Amino acid sequence: MTPEQVQLVQQSFARVSPIADQAAVLFYDRLFEIAPQVRTMFPADMTEQRRKLMATLAIVVNGLSDLPSILPAASALATRHVAYGARPEHYPVVGSALLWTLEQGLGDGWTENVADAWAAAYGTLSGFMIEQAYGRPLAAE
Ligand code: HEM
Repeated sequence: MTPEQVQLVQQSFARVSPIADQAAVLFYDRLFEIAPQVRTMFPADMTEQRRKLMATLAIVVNGLSDLPSILPAASALATRHVAYGARPEHYPVVGSALLWTLEQGLGDGWTENVADAWAAAYGTLSGFMIEQAYGRPLAAE
């Protein structure tokens, strides 16, 4: 990621933060629509899960300016996800639901550069997590 992309991700995320809970509702609705098979991996009540996801995203987005600072936590998160039943092939699906959600939340702010920056950020994070948890990166789409 270029420093400009890091800035675009941070600035656009700041615009979604005030509606974090609605964004999380949109995200999981979208995820369960495009990948209904993962619904049973999650608890019936998603309240706490939504909060955890947005809190973690905030930490990651903030940490993009100093990637090494978040890698240990990202590695541990990836390892926990193996026990949740997450598979490498789920990561692009989650990424697609995330980018879709940001597009809805940002409206006009969802420019091509912002989209590219988020794709790079999610690609970096998910590639690292997959490598940590499964020992191999998933080929880029
Ligand atoms: C970069 C991508 C992802 C991020 C940032 C993320 C974030 C989180 C966070 C913060 C939690 C709360 C529990 C914890 O911290 O261990 C969680 C739980 C969970 N995630 Fe993810 N996740 C990602 C990718 C995925 C993928 C690809 C799947 C596959 C379907 C998945 C499925 C789950 C499930 C099933 C739970 C546990 C629900 C429960 O039993 O409480 N996540 N995730």
